[in-house]
Amino acid sequence: MTAMLEVRGLEVAYGHIEAVQGIDFDVNAGEIRTLVGANGAGKSTTLLALSGLVRPKAGSIRFEGVELTRLATHQIVERGLVQVAEGRAILTTLSVRENLELGAYRRKDRAAIANDLEHVLALFPRLAERIDGLAGNLSGGEQQMLAIGRALLARPRLLLLDEPSMGLAPIIVQDIFRKLREINAEGLTIFLVEQNVRQALKIASHGYVLESGRIVLDGSGAALLGDPKVLAAYLGG
Ligand SMILES: Nc1ncnc2c1ncn2[C@@H]1O[C@H](COP(=O)(O)OP(=O)(O)OP(=O)(O)O)[C@@H](O)[C@H]1O
Ligand SMILES: [Mg+2]
Repeated sequence: MTAMLEVRGLEVAYGHIEAVQGIDFDVNAGEIRTLVGANGAGKSTTLLALSGLVRPKAGSIRFEGVELTRLATHQIVERGLVQVAEGRAILTTLSVRENLELGAYRRKDRAAIANDLEHVLALFPRLAERIDGLAGNLSGGEQQMLAIGRALLARPRLLLLDEPSMGLAPIIVQDIFRKLREINAEGLTIFLVEQNVRQALKIASHGYVLESGRIVLDGSGAALLGDPKVLAAYLGG
């Protein structure tokens, strides 16, 4: 079986800073995979490369058999690789509805958009309650849900998330991760980047540990959770 996403020898540099130093990973259709690591490990840089927002220095990124490294970001999004950016990027002076509609701005299929909006609101009832309120008045957890909902309205085939747990209380993080599981159970493939190693490995079928731009460990979520090296370095063991 070929993976949905195949990354080989990926290198990304900012001037002389080698943020990503030749990494390989796969994401199979239907699963949740995670890339975990500390501050500055190169997690966001990896996601930016997948979305064509930074150009790799070397390596290949194949998504459903198509090489992405030479495509523009909008072409990558059209192929179904949609990212929930770090820090959520909610437009605080627009309503919840307007923010959600932005996710569908490239689409013309009005009826399907309306269906997808209903589906997102069923998934996130808090957003439904506040649909005409300003996005800036939402709590941090609700804003994260809004960012995910907006990405879903772009009809992803592979959803990329950059640290959805950032700045949220543990109980809210669990809420968000439960939703990711639900979305995955409906058939959407997810690639999650996280500093919250425990929660990410709990929901992932497979994980990669990134340190200073290199993958140093990989294995099933359960295996990594039980790995003494992961325990010592990331789980306060
Ligand atoms: N635009 C940039 N210009 C120069 N260096 C950068 C830039 N963005 C990131 N870096 C550097 O690249 C390395 C990887 O950064 P990156 O943001 O990918 O890490 P990260 O794993 O996402 O970290 P965090 O968990 O803090 O979000 C770091 O050394 C960082 O300082
Ligand atoms: Mg980051």
